[in-house]
Amino acid sequence: MILAPMQGLTEVLFRRTYHRHFPMAFDYAVSPFLSLTHGNLSDAYKKIDDVLPEENHNSMAVVPQILGKEPEEFIVLANRLYEFGYTEVNWNLGCPMRKVAAKHRGSGLLPYPNEVDHILATIVPQLKPQLSVKVRLGLTSRDEIFRLIPILNNYPLKSVTIHPRLGRQQYSGHVDLDTFEQTLPLIKHPIIYNGDICTLEQYQTLVKRFPNLHDIMIGRGTLYCPTLPVEIRKGHHLDPDEKKLSTTSFLADLVRTIDEELPSDEAKLRKTKEYWCLLGRSLNITEQQARTVLHATTLNDVQQLISNFIQ
Ligand SMILES: Cc1cc2nc3c(=O)[nH]c(=O)nc-3n(C[C@H](O)[C@H](O)[C@H](O)COP(=O)(O)O)c2cc1C
Repeated sequence: MILAPMQGLTEVLFRRTYHRHFPMAFDYAVSPFLSLTHGNLSDAYKKIDDVLPEENHNSMAVVPQILGKEPEEFIVLANRLYEFGYTEVNWNLGCPMRKVAAKHRGSGLLPYPNEVDHILATIVPQLKPQLSVKVRLGLTSRDEIFRLIPILNNYPLKSVTIHPRLGRQQYSGHVDLDTFEQTLPLIKHPIIYNGDICTLEQYQTLVKRFPNLHDIMIGRGTLYCPTLPVEIRKGHHLDPDEKKLSTTSFLADLVRTIDEELPSDEAKLRKTKEYWCLLGRSLNITEQQARTVLHATTLNDVQQLISNFIQ
């Protein structure tokens, strides 16, 4: 089981704290993307701390992800990551953000299989780490994945992760499991499924329908219910008291770690509220309690309120 990359949420601070509480939950995480925007490496290096080995010590294993379409910079960055000890890097072909996709990055590359082919043909022979890719079904049409598959099959990819939505859907609507099913016999690489697994039952239904998947990647479900991966591992729900205790102690530790590690009060306040909105869901927090935290203006008040509400 793999923790999905989520920019702003699953950086190393989260991964390390999560791993302290649930060490057996995930086999590894894919990192939020390092971007090659502007065709140089400065944006990527701004975020490189997230995958520095010393930062990831005592954390879950991680596969760094790269977003971009510049072969030369991709090779430099991927081979630098290999020197850090990473034997795999992941290429983001799924990011749906409009300004990203408009520049043929992320899901914006999916309608252009020739461009993907050119990039793979250039980078693959020169990459020291193995390459995996994370894709959607297309940017605007599911036909795109079917034109892309023969290209992907020509290269020695470690795996293909599929989030079966279109880029233009962002996160709305449903995952398209029927189209996902049609892609399975066509792809010769190990396939990882990703998308909308937020309960044990959803996981069980999915693996029953697709018993031959190589792996499953879970993103938002982990934030809505941090014990979900543990329940999936065990194959049954946790006792409600145990679930509450695990979640509250994880949230309390996350709030403490944010306070210790983030550089400014403003960043601490923003991050604490962000995680509160997501993690509070599984703690039977009332609307009123949720809002009270969001309206608080000092870090101290936010921390105090959270601590009171999760008693
Ligand atoms: C806030 C946010 C940030 C994301 N950042 C990334 C990213 O950096 N790289 C990536 O490949 N996918 C990113 N995703 C997509 C997730 O990895 C995942 O594909 C998507 O959330 C669907 O899976 P889920 O339903 O299990 O969350 C992001 C999603 C969200 C909600």
